[in-house]
Amino acid sequence: MGTDVATSTAPLDMSLLSSTASVTPGGSLAIGGVDILDLAERFGTPLFVYDEEHLRLRCREAVAAFGPGVAYATKAFLCKAMARLAVEEGMTLDVSTSGELATAIAADVPPERLVLHGNNKSDAELTQALDLGISRIIVDSFDEISRLAHLSGSTHQRLARQPVMVRVTPGVEAHTHEYVKTGQEDSKFGFSLSSGAAERAAAEIAAIPGVELVGLHAHIGSQIFALDGYDEAIAVLAPLLEKLALPELCVGGGLGVAYVNGEQAPSITAWAERLRSTCSASGVPASVRLTAEPGRAIVASAALTIYRVGTIKDLPDVRTYVAVDGGMSDNPRPVLYGSGYEAFLPRAVLGERPLRARIVGKHCESGDVLVLEATVPGDIQVGDVLATPVTGAYGFSMASNYNRLPRPAVVFVAEGRTRVVVRRETDEDLLRLEP
Ligand code: LLP
Repeated sequence: MGTDVATSTAPLDMSLLSSTASVTPGGSLAIGGVDILDLAERFGTPLFVYDEEHLRLRCREAVAAFGPGVAYATKAFLCKAMARLAVEEGMTLDVSTSGELATAIAADVPPERLVLHGNNKSDAELTQALDLGISRIIVDSFDEISRLAHLSGSTHQRLARQPVMVRVTPGVEAHTHEYVKTGQEDSKFGFSLSSGAAERAAAEIAAIPGVELVGLHAHIGSQIFALDGYDEAIAVLAPLLEKLALPELCVGGGLGVAYVNGEQAPSITAWAERLRSTCSASGVPASVRLTAEPGRAIVASAALTIYRVGTIKDLPDVRTYVAVDGGMSDNPRPVLYGSGYEAFLPRAVLGERPLRARIVGKHCESGDVLVLEATVPGDIQVGDVLATPVTGAYGFSMASNYNRLPRPAVVFVAEGRTRVVVRRETDEDLLRLEP
């Protein structure tokens, strides 16, 4: 079916799949020794399928590259099982809201493995962090400094001073999408370096008895392939770090991942090596603890989303639309950022994909697109399971109930076993907040 033949009919690049991906004798895809088609039958669709070994390998790589202070940015994907896994593998967790904090606590994450972010932390969030005695609070504004001065000295007699870092806006433009750039001067995050605000913030913090300034923090953006933005950030931060004689530097997250055939991203190990050599070239003493907060690079390529094809519309001389049972509610990234994804059929993972098609969801708007320009096997049919790889970051975590669609379940697969770590929402769940 379909007349619109793609110029590149190449099969899916297998490097986009997670580390335990394999092809069964029947030609279908297995992850963690579990056939993806069986998962669709057992747990329904849409379904987020995470390769547990891949997650663990990435966490271990980050800890080996940076040391135990390296934090997993939980905004990329969080549930109790993920929090536990990251901590088991030696990572700290970066949380930025009371909800992320509550999830970490429910997963028994020790306070010394938590750092708190946020450009608008509430009194309740700061109080909870101070009461728990978490590892680091990343201070983001002068208002927050006033709140910290008040809260750290008031209600409780704390045993130790709360370690904090100052979030600095280094004035660096990361080469990435406008919405996920954060290092430039015009930003809601952090204290500007060039205006002297960062240094003033450090001085104000130093005057608060209940807290201790331990370092500088900068996060320049997300989905970054070109590492020179980090070089620039380190170069401008190094003099302030030296002037204040601070022992820590955190470069935030942002390392990009490959989403589509032909893309290549640096590994976490290569990223860390580059940061270290930039630090030494910029005069940052070797004794300074260098840390980072990868989110996407830990989880993105660990997962894929599987859908069921429900409708195929072949519009002659226009295009073919393949509609699946999810959409912008389980992956808003194509709509928000114009992000590209691959689509493939797990039943024919190595198959050519000669048919050009647009993969769309079931929401009531034309913008509900999952893959704008996909290529799929020519014999794709209603009832097929279709998958999009590299959906482990900012998919489930940004999922919504638009059109009252229940959010998908999340499963972890490993060594032939599957566990549901987040069950599928039901229509009753959608009504639970209403009297
Ligand atoms: N640290 C801080 C302070 C951050 O704000 C972020 C992400 C990270 C670490 C982790 O960045 P990563 O390594 O994941 O790039 N929703 C967007 C991404 C927003 C990133 C927000 N901050 C997307 O889907 O592309």
